[in-house]
Parts: sequence; C-alpha cells; structure tokens
Amino acid sequence: MLGSSQTIFSLSHSQGITFCQQSPDFIVPDKVPPCNLKTKSASISIVGMGYVGLCTAATFASRGIRTIGIDIDQARVEQIRRGKAPLHEPQLDSMLKNVVRRKLLYATSDISVAAHTDTTFLTVGTPSQPDGSIDLSYIKNATEDLGNALREKHDYHLVVVKSTVVPGSTNGTVKRFLEQSSRKVIGAELGLCANPEFLKEGTAINDALHPDKIVIGSNDKKSVNELAKLYRRFYGATLPPVILTSPEAAELVKYASNAFLATKVSFINTIANIAEKIPGVDVGTIAEAIGLDPRIGSLFLKAGPGYGGSCFHKDLQAIINYSQNKNYDPILLRATEETNEQQTSRVVGMAEKLLGSLPSKRIAVLGLAFKKDTDDIREAASIRLINQLKKKGARVIAYDPMAIPNTKKQFPDQIDYAENAQSALRGADCAIIMTEWDLIRKLKAKDFQEYMKTPNIVDARRIYDPEEFSLLNYVSIGLGPRQERNS
Ligand code: UGA
Repeated sequence: MLGSSQTIFSLSHSQGITFCQQSPDFIVPDKVPPCNLKTKSASISIVGMGYVGLCTAATFASRGIRTIGIDIDQARVEQIRRGKAPLHEPQLDSMLKNVVRRKLLYATSDISVAAHTDTTFLTVGTPSQPDGSIDLSYIKNATEDLGNALREKHDYHLVVVKSTVVPGSTNGTVKRFLEQSSRKVIGAELGLCANPEFLKEGTAINDALHPDKIVIGSNDKKSVNELAKLYRRFYGATLPPVILTSPEAAELVKYASNAFLATKVSFINTIANIAEKIPGVDVGTIAEAIGLDPRIGSLFLKAGPGYGGSCFHKDLQAIINYSQNKNYDPILLRATEETNEQQTSRVVGMAEKLLGSLPSKRIAVLGLAFKKDTDDIREAASIRLINQLKKKGARVIAYDPMAIPNTKKQFPDQIDYAENAQSALRGADCAIIMTEWDLIRKLKAKDFQEYMKTPNIVDARRIYDPEEFSLLNYVSIGLGPRQERNS
C-alpha cells in the first residue's frame, strides 16, 4: 500500500527528498522535508478559475496560503471578488466567502501579478479537438503570458501544470513556451512540474483537502523540492503519499486513472446487459459479490445509462488519439467508449420495447445532470438520450432540480421542461430515470401510477425497488425478467 512503512527508496536521496526521473518513488509524509515555516509566507497564483482552479484556490487560501486567482473572464473575476462561486460545488460558496473576506484570495484578470507570487498553477482547460486530441491553445496562451510576466522577476518562480495534458506536454510545449517568453531556463530561476488533479465534481473541496495521493512529475530537483515543500505546508501531518516521477509519467497517471474508472463503469454496464437476459438476476447482486474481492473493490460498480461529465469522454478520446499516433491501438479503451455510447441506445431501446413505438409518445426524462448534486450536463447520458428520443419522434418533457438552465442552452425549444417531477410525469406515456437525485429516488410507485397516462418506467439508474414497482410496467438496467417463485 502506498504510504506504508514499506516505502520504496530506489534512488539517491538528497536534501531529504527522493528524486527520480525514470521510475516512480513513493514518499511517506514524514519523509518529506519539513519546510521552514519561519520564512516569508508562501503565496501562489492559479491561472484558470474553472472548477479545478477555483476549488484548488479556495482550499489553498483556506489553509492560510495567500492565493491569487487569475482568469481572462472579467465577469467571473468580479463574481469571485464578491465571494460568490460562479459554479455549483458543495462547500465552495462558504469557503470562498470566508477566504475573500479574510483577504487570502484575490481574483484578477491581470496575469502579470503572478510574478509577485512564488508558484503559479496552470488550471486552464484542455478541450477536445474534432479528432479527439487535446487543444493546447489555452495552455500555450497562459504559459506565454506567464513567461512574459516573469521576465523581469529576479526571485525563483515555480510553474505547475495541473491541467490534464497528454504525456510530453509539460516538458515539451509548456517548457518551450515558458523558456522562450520568460527568457529563462528551467533550473536556478525557474521551476516546472506536472501535478495532475483527481477532484470529483460534487466532492471537490473534500477531495482537495484529503487527497489519496499527490503526484509530482519533474526532471528538475529544485522544482520537486519547492512543490513538495508547499504541499507539506498545506497538509502538515495529513500529507498523503507523494509520488515523484517524470513529467510524462505524472501526465499518464491522470489518463490511466480516468481510463480505468471509465472502463470499470463500461465493464459493469456490460455485465448488466448480460444480467438483463437472465430471469431473476440483478446486476446489483453481481456487483456486490465481486466487489468484496479486494482486487476488484466495491466502488464504481454502479450500472447505469453510461458515464458522462467533462472528463471521461474527453480524456479517453485524448489518450486513444495519443496512443494511435504512437502506433498503438488501445482497443480496450475504444471498447470502453463504444460500450458507453451504446448504453444510452439501450435505454432508448427499453422505452421502445415498453411503448411499441416512440413517435408522438410523451416521455418524461427525470434527471439531466451527469450525476446527482451538480448542474453539469457536459457529456451527460441524458443529452445523448434526448437527442435519440427526438430523432425517433418522441415528445420529451424533462425535469432536473438543478440542471434545467444549462439544458435550456442546449435545447431551447426542442423539449419541454417541468417545474417538478410530478408535473413531468403528468400524462406521460413513459418515464426514464437518468440521474440518481435523492428527490427522484423518493418518488413512490403510486406517484407514477397517479400521474402518468400509463406507468411505463425505465429505471436507467436502478434507484427503485423492483418489488415495490412490480405492479407497474417497470424495467431497469441490469435487471433480468421476473422469475416466478415456487412457494
Ligand atoms: C472524474 C473522476 O472520478 C475524478 O477522479 C477526476 O479527477 C475527474 O473525473 C476529472 O478528470 O476531473 P467526475 O467527472 O466528477 O470525476 O465524475 P465521477 O464521479 O467520476 O462520475 C463520472 C460518471 O460516471 C458519471 O456520469 C457517473 O454517474 C458515472 N458512474 C460513476 C457510473 O455510471 N457508475 C459508477 O459506479 C460510477
């Protein structure tokens, strides 16, 4: 286990910290050198006040580290200055209010102020290009602007790439742009590390305060020491295992992590699809049983309508494209994506089977967000579903407690929106459950019976008890046909 007393020290130790370029090394918290807290207090800047950047900024500031949040979007900057989070994330609003009031977090659109801090994290977006590869233009612009700002700086400055970038980007594009624009070289005056993040939407603040690991990739010893020192200051006695490795390996850790999680979801969805063919079988039982094997683990085995969110699809596409350009076809990862794509069509197929045909049928889609407790609909299975339902001529009425404003931007008038779940169900021919919101989970079989024209239900999130719903036309992902019991 990482962080256990069996720490592997395969390479030389210097200044109390292990540094390696080729193979990773694990450092337990007490092996990281204590930083000199008597020196001037650390200050950091974070470029890109999106979800990762803002949550990272708020948590650093909450630990007393002076933080400057930088974004080109002036409206966003103004909002942060008022202590208001421009996105929904539990705990963020109150934390932000607090750190802004205590003057620990300051937001600006002027990147030149980054030069007045010790360390700059890059957290700008790396969206997909049409061929799946990542678009590094925000990274290039931010790095160039930062380099220009650092040109006249005399003190050491560390640059940390937190954005998700394919292997080679930090030590290639970022290093080149940074050195050119700052007219300095990585070493004595300038530091550079790759340091991926593993925050989940909905629990990002807690994840940032209690990560299971910190991954630092750099070819430069001083850079590693400085970043480890900052994290030591941040986490103190609760510092998690720190993995030191090359920038390329650190970059790949992020893709491997998301690719594995996405594959786990596509795997259980595959088993769910098999379970549906077998009378009396429920994939939940299979997941519970296999999850008890510690080699498999019980988390991330919930069958459903397919994964969504801003990262899995984008990152899978990026690493597939990257590998193919290196003459390796990662068929497993392609299958993960294809399985995910098909899963939404299977949900449509279930509705079709219940209804006979879809044209003019009124379908209530309950839940639009890619998972509960967020207003985020990026790559959500619900969006793929609605597109398919509309193509087949169904009339869609959607409900979500949080994600309707974002969905309206995508479907301004192609679908109807309901104010609550009950009014979405009123007169519907079929209800499809797409997000596992607690208030949707709380609906009873009688609610569907009372409001719907015909109680056809496709439970794509498996949130209802099949027994309670057995008198309705209820089908669920991963649930085989009912088996008559011998009494
Ligand atoms: C994901 C990763 O979990 C984070 O570790 C990573 O840092 C983040 O992407 C990122 O790269 O920024 P997130 O997108 O917030 O986090 O969402 P997850 O909680 O991982 O869920 C992703 C999708 O998988 C959701 O649609 C969810 O409903 C689905 N899922 C998840 C399942 O269908 N079944 C499961 O068992 C788990």
